[in-house]
Amino acid sequence: MASPLPPSPVGVRVRVPAKINLALKVGPPRPDGFHPLATVYQAVSLYDEVHAAWADPEEFEVEVTGEGADLVPLDDSNLAIRAARLLARTHGAHDSLGVSLSIKKSIPVAGGLAGGSANGAAALLACAALWDIDVSAENLRALAEELGSDVPFALMGGTAVGSGRGEEVAPALARGTYHWVLAFGHHGLSTPDVYRRFDELNPDAVQPEIPPALMNALRGGDARQLGAALSNDLQPAALQLQPRLRLLLEAGLEYGALGALVSGSGPTCAFLVDSESDAVDLSVALSAEGLCRTVRRATGPVVGARVIG
Ligand code: C5P
Repeated sequence: MASPLPPSPVGVRVRVPAKINLALKVGPPRPDGFHPLATVYQAVSLYDEVHAAWADPEEFEVEVTGEGADLVPLDDSNLAIRAARLLARTHGAHDSLGVSLSIKKSIPVAGGLAGGSANGAAALLACAALWDIDVSAENLRALAEELGSDVPFALMGGTAVGSGRGEEVAPALARGTYHWVLAFGHHGLSTPDVYRRFDELNPDAVQPEIPPALMNALRGGDARQLGAALSNDLQPAALQLQPRLRLLLEAGLEYGALGALVSGSGPTCAFLVDSESDAVDLSVALSAEGLCRTVRRATGPVVGARVIG
């Protein structure tokens, strides 16, 4: 007997951006081990793509190509697979659903740009469309929260304030478009390792608050003011684990960046510049220094995960 046609498209493609943290203020660890955060996220124009296609019922598989593909696990720990399984379990007739996911990566793995979280968010959206599951934005967001601290922001995009462990996001009032240069490190950094080092360095950490100067800069669309207000409490920990990052940050500032910081738990360093042409100049200069593996230009804010075909 011929098998019934799938009720929805053969394949769905979703594009999802990387994030940087313009401010990342971290408090003392909570009883569950996570750290309370006060953060400002910005989604930038460096994208992964996730394609979802029908597979046999209860088959969940993933292949990964592109930037750092060989570092991405292909088993059930893969965040895109976890996202697909979670959606099938909670919102679908899960014994009839299966998916074959292909991830095309441009966001570096373990880079502090939430690449894994982005893939989780994209897989949620792609599978909901593929399987024709009518899941409300609120429910999708609840699933995103369950998958990881940065996943809800990857769905939302733009510029947003994050609290809780990072998963509670609210859009921030922000004007203008900002030009970034992103420098990828030679080796990734493990987020739990960086948080552990933060705890060692900050035995008396206090409850975190968003710096008002940063919000003022965003409201005014003032890149110079924003550059001066960038801050990351995890930066000293990341610099201890990879001391050469300090040279990279200093080089960027010497070449005229308006501000420089380690993104999230690192090791990617983000440099804010005034214009597209300044971004080109800084990219060339940093590449020539040989302090990083790859340099990319990006602008922000951009929208979050979206179906593109
Ligand atoms: O939520 P996510 O899976 O992205 O977090 C990865 C790891 O980062 C956690 O297991 C934890 O060690 C650390 N983390 C933390 N506090 C946060 C977010 C992440 O300690 N607010």
